[in-house]
Amino acid sequence: SDINSGGNYEECRNTADWLLNHTQVRPTVGIVCGSGLGGLAGMLKDPQVFKYSDIPNFPRSTVHGHAGQLVFGTLKGKPCVCMQGRFHLYEGYPIQKITLPMRVFKLMGVETVILTNAAGGLNQDFKVGDIMIIKDHVNMPGFAGNNPLAGPNDDRFGVRFPCMSDAYDRELQQLAHEVATELGYSDFLREGVYCVLGGPSFETIAECRMLHRLGGDAVGMSTVHEVIVARHAGMRCFAMSLITNRSVMDYDSQERANHEEVLETSGQRSKQMEKLVTTMLDRLDNN
Ligand code: 6GU
Repeated sequence: SDINSGGNYEECRNTADWLLNHTQVRPTVGIVCGSGLGGLAGMLKDPQVFKYSDIPNFPRSTVHGHAGQLVFGTLKGKPCVCMQGRFHLYEGYPIQKITLPMRVFKLMGVETVILTNAAGGLNQDFKVGDIMIIKDHVNMPGFAGNNPLAGPNDDRFGVRFPCMSDAYDRELQQLAHEVATELGYSDFLREGVYCVLGGPSFETIAECRMLHRLGGDAVGMSTVHEVIVARHAGMRCFAMSLITNRSVMDYDSQERANHEEVLETSGQRSKQMEKLVTTMLDRLDNN
């Protein structure tokens, strides 16, 4: 058996070629939509939709709130490919399978990856509905050896030991701040550090306190693995979290994290998040 089950070069090449043979679009921007944030995919012009179940080597999306399809089209005149629904560690896929789409993006010509997610707010200044620009991450599964780049390195994608101190592109963060100010979103725009856990259970109170003390501003179950693989392959990354609930930090609290609340909040703020992304795309490389 292949210790790189999912994500080896030939497999990614086959998938990329299959997609390129089935669409005219030559995407330079790849977008990954988080829970309840798939509306962006609906904004693509002249969309071409592929169900994950129809794409060779693609995993299936099993989570409520994730449509499970890949959409090609243009946004603000830019050729894009958009994942409407992503894969998570807790779905039980090998970690390389979760990040396979990033390598497929790369082999299709994508240069910039934009990712969104729903997250819990660890930072006590954050409110439900805040949008956090991710400036850095803490990869908790990585501490335990669960890194998507574990296994033999394929130099055709990138180097054995990729740098992660520039994981989140600073120019794109700056652009997001500028655009958010212009759109009047400053009141709910934040920036911070995203901590990823394996899930699917939400954090205990002790775990929230620990992550907060370790420097985390938000906690979730996605994005970091994709960013690591995208950076390894030299694509620039921009990511943001929608704070859908506040992490429970004390034993007197009656609050309980739940997926319904996550979807409810993402529904309320999704339009503004979409506007932020599309306006950024409009400015990409023309300023
Ligand atoms: Cl509170 N925790 C995690 N791990 N993921 C989340 C979340 C919380 N809220 C949305 N996604």
